[in-house]
Amino acid sequence: MNRFLNISAIIMAFLTEGVWAEPSSKVAFTPEVLKTLSAGQTKKGEEIAQSCVGCHVLGGAAPLLDGQIGAYLFKQLKDYQDGSRMNELMTGLVRGLSDQDLADIAAYFSQLKAPSSTKSKVTEMAEVLVHRGDPRRILPPCVACHERDGRGQKIDVPAIRGQSAAYLHQTLKDYKSGQRHNDLLGRMRAISQELNEKEIKALAEYYGQ
Ligand code: HEC
Ligand code: HEC
Repeated sequence: MNRFLNISAIIMAFLTEGVWAEPSSKVAFTPEVLKTLSAGQTKKGEEIAQSCVGCHVLGGAAPLLDGQIGAYLFKQLKDYQDGSRMNELMTGLVRGLSDQDLADIAAYFSQLKAPSSTKSKVTEMAEVLVHRGDPRRILPPCVACHERDGRGQKIDVPAIRGQSAAYLHQTLKDYKSGQRHNDLLGRMRAISQELNEKEIKALAEYYGQ
């Protein structure tokens, strides 16, 4: 797996170099940022989160944050703040928050119980893409980064299992069209561009609920 990861990282860097010249996010996981993150306080995060959980519940209007990788949450919130990830609603909601607030929020949501892996609709099309990818399209398998069961991994690869299928579907389409462009190295944009609409639907249904 490690060897594959190295090869795919090189391929992805090659694929994306020059295509997206603009930095996609201003977040870098420097020692200072990691220090801020590890100083995140669950209790404070819980207080701020009272204004978030109305939307961020399963079956709600927004993606589930429970059990999500903390550094990923922090990065998305920073990206909304400076417009690297475009969503007027979220940008307005987090505009006034400090880095410490964002670290507190990340600490709170990341320690909540993650949804279990549901695999609501397993199709052969999805299974192949998830576990094997497609070498002809230089498409790495999802598990190479999102791990077994789509649980994500440190530092910034999000958990995708148990997420709302509608959100996963829309997000993959947004990466494909470039509407969402805050992924470092353009990895998700390069991947989603190789996927057709049927495959995107199959993957959203495989991981989502
Ligand atoms: C009115 C509903 C609403 C409220 C309230 C709300 N959000 Fe959101 N949030 C959304 C929607 C919709 C999205 C998806 C936007 C997109 O596609 O970029 C989102 C996206 C996010 C994401 C990205 C998740 C991912 O998987 O990439 C994070 C993190 C987030 N919100 C955190 C928060 C926090 C923290 C608060 C409270 C301070 C909050 N939200 C309040 C609706 C809301
Ligand atoms: C080379 C590593 C890599 C591979 C392979 C990969 N991903 Fe990702 N994925 C990422 C990273 C890193 C992010 C977070 C990008 C960001 O910061 O916005 C991400 C984000 C996502 C998101 C957004 C989640 C959210 O909460 O908004 C979805 C959905 C997703 N990936 C699905 C997939 C699927 C499906 C596959 C297989 C076809 C796949 N990914 C393969 C690295 C990868």
